[in-house]
Amino acid sequence: MSTDKLDISLANELYVLKNEGRAKIPERIITAYTPPKNGFGPRYRLKGSNQSFIRLNSNSYLSLSCHPELIKAADQATHEFGVGPGAVRFIDGTFSYHDQLERRVAKFVGKPAAKIFNSAYTSNCGLALSISGKKTHWIGDQLNHNSIIRAMRITNIPRENKGIFKHNDMGDLRHCLDEVRPDIERVIVVFDGIFSMRGDYAPIDQIQEICAEYDARFKDGVITVVDDSHGIGAYGDTGRGTPDFCNSQPDIIVGTFGKAFGVNGGFIAGSDTIIESVRQKADTYIYTNPLSVADCAAASKALDICDSEEGQQLLAHLRERTHQFRQGLEDLGFESIPGPHPVVPLMVRDTQKTHDLVQYLFEQGVLVVGLTFPVVPRGDETIRFQINAAHTPADINYVLDVLKQFKHR
Ligand SMILES: Cc1ncc(COP(=O)(O)O)c(C=O)c1O
Repeated sequence: MSTDKLDISLANELYVLKNEGRAKIPERIITAYTPPKNGFGPRYRLKGSNQSFIRLNSNSYLSLSCHPELIKAADQATHEFGVGPGAVRFIDGTFSYHDQLERRVAKFVGKPAAKIFNSAYTSNCGLALSISGKKTHWIGDQLNHNSIIRAMRITNIPRENKGIFKHNDMGDLRHCLDEVRPDIERVIVVFDGIFSMRGDYAPIDQIQEICAEYDARFKDGVITVVDDSHGIGAYGDTGRGTPDFCNSQPDIIVGTFGKAFGVNGGFIAGSDTIIESVRQKADTYIYTNPLSVADCAAASKALDICDSEEGQQLLAHLRERTHQFRQGLEDLGFESIPGPHPVVPLMVRDTQKTHDLVQYLFEQGVLVVGLTFPVVPRGDETIRFQINAAHTPADINYVLDVLKQFKHR
């Protein structure tokens, strides 16, 4: 047996992807990290290049992944228990660090309980498997992250039990709720906290108010779920994310330790019963090894830092640098989507110009992501800049200077 025939079929499929402009570019490989020095933040080296790069395409908003205390915590946990759990959670793969992180993150987001997963992606899938039944209807924002879309798909509910509302359109959310059949027992309304391509946020207070109006119509009510992967640790006065920013608490919070907190892994937080259902029913939790104790120890430490004086300073610095960059873009006459989140989109609105600007930035040592059709609709071509707490005023000025040069070439 050989895979020759399969290889030919797959190669054809890949060819189609490429032709449609949907194929990913080859992955760049980071080969070295240079710590901050002389008023500039960290720099990176890439395989095959002698240049050093500043990253404005990292989700590590608090820039904690190289923090000495996180490294020390991961190191200590590893020395205590080793590098792998040896089994899934329910077959004695649960260590004190897993338990501690679950308690810590529940407390952080203000929920009675939490379960940790290998990622936010598998958290969303696990949540859907745990709380969806035959008489469940799902409603989601049109721009929800792929993991939520996938989660809604794996519930195996019929198409008519799903509704999609236009991005952040509260009238359309209402319309979706009006359309739910009366025999439905449970409605789940799910949305990103921060929309990662745009840096805008879900108006959670308004969503909560609307959902509350419909709650009594259904046996199990209307349950709100926010996936605040880009908000947690980066947004709101205390880094509690979009619920904090909107001063409104959804019923269930999904998040990641892999962005602002600089580590890895995801979580679901909610009532004790919801979390016990997750433990009993989420295949993406039950049948897979958990995070390493090193990840758990580092993530717990990241939450501690976020809650400390240092965390307050990092958040304040992040807000200032984000403001500096947004103001700079405006002064240069570039279009963006307003908002205080460190995801700052530069609306280019042209495919070729987007490619040209991404390439120009790369040649000047700046790493960013360009988003073109079909990832975004034609006319919405964008470059996504992500500010983090390790960027210095000089870093931001450097990037703005490069943008200025591009404009006046
Ligand atoms: C809203 C949202 N959910 C989930 C994820 C995936 O997070 P993780 O890397 O922890 O799976 C992302 C990452 O891009 C995201 O933006």
